[in-house]
Amino acid sequence: MTLDGAMPTTVPALTPDLLLRVERLEVVYHRVATAVQGVSLNVPRGKMVTLIGPNGAGKTTVLRAIGGFTAAEVATIRDGEIAYMGRDIRGMPPEETVRMGIVAVPERVKIFDTLTVKENLRASGFPVEKAEMQGVWDMFPQLWQRRDVRAVLLSGGERQMLALGAALCCKPSLMLIDELSLGLAPKIATDLFRLVRKLNEERGIAILLVEQNARAALELADIGYIIESGRIVFEGSSEKLLGHGDVMEFYLGRSDERSKSFRDVKQYRRKRRWWG
Ligand SMILES: Nc1ncnc2c1ncn2[C@@H]1O[C@H](COP(=O)(O)OP(=O)(O)OP(=O)(O)O)[C@@H](O)[C@H]1O
Ligand SMILES: [Mg+2]
Repeated sequence: MTLDGAMPTTVPALTPDLLLRVERLEVVYHRVATAVQGVSLNVPRGKMVTLIGPNGAGKTTVLRAIGGFTAAEVATIRDGEIAYMGRDIRGMPPEETVRMGIVAVPERVKIFDTLTVKENLRASGFPVEKAEMQGVWDMFPQLWQRRDVRAVLLSGGERQMLALGAALCCKPSLMLIDELSLGLAPKIATDLFRLVRKLNEERGIAILLVEQNARAALELADIGYIIESGRIVFEGSSEKLLGHGDVMEFYLGRSDERSKSFRDVKQYRRKRRWWG
């Protein structure tokens, strides 16, 4: 549904400025549990898009489907389309999507604790040339300072920087970032978000950012989608979402209201409209 309350009627064409287009995506786990039910979303070239919503809403599943990581979780894409740079990538395995420039920074980051920062970057699976390594150091000077330190000794924020750095070594056009702020102090999370925005603005990398920290994500991103129980319930420019009363109330508002579902309110309002 759009912010005007109207259902989008036409399927957007794959214009040159659209990098990723997901249409009516449906994903089931173990052939029975539907986790994503008809999700459509777009990532324009060079833009930063955020997908926000409560626990279990289907955010990670959407990213898994795009990156091709469904098989490992016994998930199946039952319906829908995923187009990237004009190519149908639905069902493509991660080794192929990564070659096309789709690089995932997953929820539980895979970092080798016994390797140093520098060794971790080299282990990204791509031949990392000097220029790329320099690119990482330029973006994350803190990692340069810690380059010979074993990853196990890094702070939570530094680990996430390393994860972003390793992703950068894969020459991404699109980064799929899942819960970067998980378990981090707010200040550290804010610093990381700024670095993500910098990657987007300075390197032109499009970002699809999954976050539970809705406000921080919206303040950073260009476009936002809100997902609940596997469905998009709201979409629009970040500005619009930040300024919208219902979104404010149920995602960004007082902490005692956060557990309420947007759909509950919507249904309640609809009922009120119908019956009174
Ligand atoms: N590997 C799996 N096997 C079976 N069901 C799963 C699996 N992963 C997720 N699910 C289910 O799919 C639904 C969506 O989960 P998903 O992890 O995509 O949500 P999420 O929005 O990323 O949640 P969170 O904010 O907690 O990370 C949930 O009901 C979840 O229990
Ligand atoms: Mg998740």
